[in-house]
Amino acid sequence: MSHFRYLKWEVEQGILTLTINRPDKLNALNFETLEELRTAMRNAYEEQSIKAIIITGEGSKSFVAGADITEFMQVNEYNARKISENGQEIFSMIEMCPKPVIAAVNGYALGGGCELAMACHMRIASTNAKFGLPEVSLGLLPGYGGTQRLTLLVGKGKAFELMMTGDMIDAHTALSIGLINHITSPEALIDKCKEILNVIMQRAPIAIAQVIECVNAVYNESKNGYQVEANSFAICSHTEDFREGTKAFLEKRKPVFKGR
Ligand code: COA
Repeated sequence: MSHFRYLKWEVEQGILTLTINRPDKLNALNFETLEELRTAMRNAYEEQSIKAIIITGEGSKSFVAGADITEFMQVNEYNARKISENGQEIFSMIEMCPKPVIAAVNGYALGGGCELAMACHMRIASTNAKFGLPEVSLGLLPGYGGTQRLTLLVGKGKAFELMMTGDMIDAHTALSIGLINHITSPEALIDKCKEILNVIMQRAPIAIAQVIECVNAVYNESKNGYQVEANSFAICSHTEDFREGTKAFLEKRKPVFKGR
């Protein structure tokens, strides 16, 4: 399928594994990688055979060690807002994706890497994962949605602590504050993500897409989440899968969902 310079695209049994592939730079997100991520997400939205997505980093040391600091020399008062909005837009595509997206965090998830993981619907981390938002050490702040997503995920106090100190935390601390969903050994990481996705893929796809829509409405001040939920409930009620799901329960058999 797609050919990228800094991304690996592998599809197996309906699951796309997108791997950020710049291991010599600890998978730091340069502008080109970000644009490739945009294209990859667009393709993943459209490709019918893709039912779920894992985002990870190449190698055992790093998920993504942040935005590419060498490109920060190009950031100035004229383009900074656009750079931030561009990153926000690409990460929102991940968050709004109607198919489940899990971050498999296999090492450093720093700065833009932590922001990328937070844009995914869930985060599974290996025992060697390290999270942090060290932007203040560079005279910046997280600009790809991190100030908002971190606060919603872990609450105001912990978000302030992480973003003001810039300190790294390990996977166990990340689990204890609600930043991640599970911890596994590095060897079991991708299998754990696939295990969760395989459960989700047995459920009704339109219902899953509507859950994503409703949960994301919490993040969107311009939307009334209860109205979005009622609308999603109505959308599901029109589907063949809803008929099938309820019928299968009454007939004491497993449902066969078709995504319509
Ligand atoms: N941007 C660009 N290059 C990066 C990078 C980033 N965010 N993070 C790591 N790299 C590069 C290093 O410059 C180095 O490249 P080189 O071999 O050409 O010199 C390579 O990746 C390996 O990193 P190195 O620092 O040698 O590894 P380490 O094990 O000593 O340290 C880290 C690992 C993650 C602690 C360290 O690389 C680091 O602090 N990175 C920056 C993290 C950061 O501030 N991210 C937020 C940016 S907003």
